[in-house]
Amino acid sequence: MKRFLFALTALAVVACSTAPKMSQEEKEAFKFADKLIEKMTLQEKLGQLQQFVTKKGDVTGPDGVKRNLDEAIRQGTVGSFLSIRSKEEMLRLQKIAIEESRLGIPLIFGFDIIHGCRIQFPENLGASCSWDMEALEHAARIAAEETTSLGIHWTFSPMCDISADPRWGRVSEGAGEDPYLGAKVAAAIVRGYQGDDLASDNTIAACVKHFAAYGAPQAGRDYHTVDMSEMMFRDRYLPPYKAALEAGAATVMSSFNDFMGIPASGNKWLMHTLLREELGFTGFVVSDYNAVHEQVKHGTAADGKDAACQAMNAHLNMDMVYGDYITHGEALVKEGKVSEKTINQLCREVLAVKYRLGLFDDPFKYGRQNHEDVAYRPENLQFAREVAAKSMVLLSNNGVLPLKNVKKIAVVGPLADAPRDQIGAWISFGEADHSVTTLSAIKERYGAPNVIYAKGSDFHKPIKGGIEEAVRAAKQADVVLLSLGLPYTEGGEATSLTEITVPEAQQALLDAVKKSGKRVVVLLGTGRAMDVRNEVEKADAVLVTWHGGTMEGPAIADLVSGDKNPSGHLTMSFPYCVGQCPVHYNMKITGRPRNNPQHDKKYLSRYMHTPNEPLFPFGYGLSYTEFEYSDLQVLTPEVELGGVVKISVKVTNKGKYDGDDVAQLYIRDLVAETTRPMRELKGFERFSLKAGESKVVTFEVPTSDLAYCHRDLSFKADAGAFKVWVGEDSNATLEGDFTIK
Ligand code: NOJ
Repeated sequence: MKRFLFALTALAVVACSTAPKMSQEEKEAFKFADKLIEKMTLQEKLGQLQQFVTKKGDVTGPDGVKRNLDEAIRQGTVGSFLSIRSKEEMLRLQKIAIEESRLGIPLIFGFDIIHGCRIQFPENLGASCSWDMEALEHAARIAAEETTSLGIHWTFSPMCDISADPRWGRVSEGAGEDPYLGAKVAAAIVRGYQGDDLASDNTIAACVKHFAAYGAPQAGRDYHTVDMSEMMFRDRYLPPYKAALEAGAATVMSSFNDFMGIPASGNKWLMHTLLREELGFTGFVVSDYNAVHEQVKHGTAADGKDAACQAMNAHLNMDMVYGDYITHGEALVKEGKVSEKTINQLCREVLAVKYRLGLFDDPFKYGRQNHEDVAYRPENLQFAREVAAKSMVLLSNNGVLPLKNVKKIAVVGPLADAPRDQIGAWISFGEADHSVTTLSAIKERYGAPNVIYAKGSDFHKPIKGGIEEAVRAAKQADVVLLSLGLPYTEGGEATSLTEITVPEAQQALLDAVKKSGKRVVVLLGTGRAMDVRNEVEKADAVLVTWHGGTMEGPAIADLVSGDKNPSGHLTMSFPYCVGQCPVHYNMKITGRPRNNPQHDKKYLSRYMHTPNEPLFPFGYGLSYTEFEYSDLQVLTPEVELGGVVKISVKVTNKGKYDGDDVAQLYIRDLVAETTRPMRELKGFERFSLKAGESKVVTFEVPTSDLAYCHRDLSFKADAGAFKVWVGEDSNATLEGDFTIK
């Protein structure tokens, strides 16, 4: 059949295999699984491949037949559940599985723990702007501890989808536009969730999603088609998924989108050739929600049975929700369309992960900890405050920040006291009533009598008398903290936008408050990059706070007061306007580059009335102090292939404040076999410097990190000349050269 002819398979073989060796622990798990499989009926095996959500005690199959949930577990026709909130219910269901099903195989419970469980850390895009891998790992560790004490074994995170398109609302859940940084972030989060021991009762299985290339939907519209060359995929999109797998992620989720014309959930090249044969993944793949069945809507499967057949043969282990696997699996095997050998393989991979989680050993150990003892620990809240402060990015500042000699502060805007919005999308077990808002934190920091609050406007609609009240507040104050941006409902899944400016009602509020003549600091709450030309032009400072999580308010107070110094750097370019999107620093050069922005020659790769460059580039972020970068030295002007390029740079804190900065190293491969990006991040270091202090930052870049996809699709580095830049953002000007021999 045509659809099974995967032309790409042949090409992929050329790419070098990076398959890691199976660990002893994995070998043991498979040994156990294989023994168990010998005892299982076909229906029981298929049960392990089926995940359901529960609705009022029933699970509903694609045949429309409601099955009693408890009965389904007793019969072994369900292996997993997602999104059950009650620990007692999970324990009850597990008890049925263990005590009343024929073989007592434990269930695995999954949940979307995305940027925290109870304590919400900043949304992932924001958190990535900290460039602090230890912090991201620790945040995931805290999330895992809170999660396991609820009885949950598995999170559907990290989202490893690279995206440079702020129209796509799900950018909030990723780490931005860069594959190198994205890979580091993905690995850190996996380490945080899984720790050193997956079987421990406070670690959870990670899930690398959405495999693959979900972050590149056409026109930024969620679930839309993805079409790109394999070369682009390998260069730009694959690295974070790969890094998460190398960090040991136990599971993967297939994406909703099609990829090179084949829906991911039925795409054998993705699920088998690349994931298993090339990358050596030994865990299991769960589909995204109903994604197996959605092959029918994609128009590549005739019906649910055909959809299950294709997904099983593609090597997708677990059907999330719809039920095509359990409904049609038996018939597919009987008719010889799916072999029992295939079912055994799919099943053993699920069982092995359950084994590695320790569920066969003690199916009730997760959740034995008292949740109240683990949730909202004060030291973890303090940590969330630090992560939020490190994530916030100062875009502009005419000197108004940090606030000095300020007696009265007006706190204005729809996000100033919005406990639900500040924790963002995908909050799992987050609770708005635990949020500390900007208003309460500024009152705490400056004394309640010195703070005047006016909401001023809703997100999209003016409120009656709102502007007048805000202007009155501004007039009584020395400075206005104006919290603008997007509500939590305008970030995350299914929130694509074609306008990415601050909504008009809020722009009117900014205009009115500005007219009061008082200094205005815009605090921009958002899960995506936005067109902020208007705010930057009108406000005295713009600080991107993201949706900063439970402790957003105190983090804002720390920064505006100068108790802490902003240190976040953008991981996603802020476009000049939506028409440029997707715009990212690592675009290709083209045969007609417009090197000089002033250059207005016609036949160059440029817009007629708009710059090519984003308003704020990747890596950008201001501080209250000034860091000077000097003395770039290429310590290894000539390096053998396989060696390490060493580059040092001196950084001096020339300002009056202590501060943290992120030194970033970019390279360009000057002549390559295939077209290369203008610049590529290949190293970074976050550091602290006291006012007046200097330090030398040394980067070590293994030449293997300079690998790229060649004409034959092999991924390798090769000899040649390179340019290197080091500085505070992707426009860094301090430069040098090196050669790989
Ligand atoms: C759909 C989302 O795309 C995915 O990220 C999530 O994990 C699943 N639903 C389960 O909630």
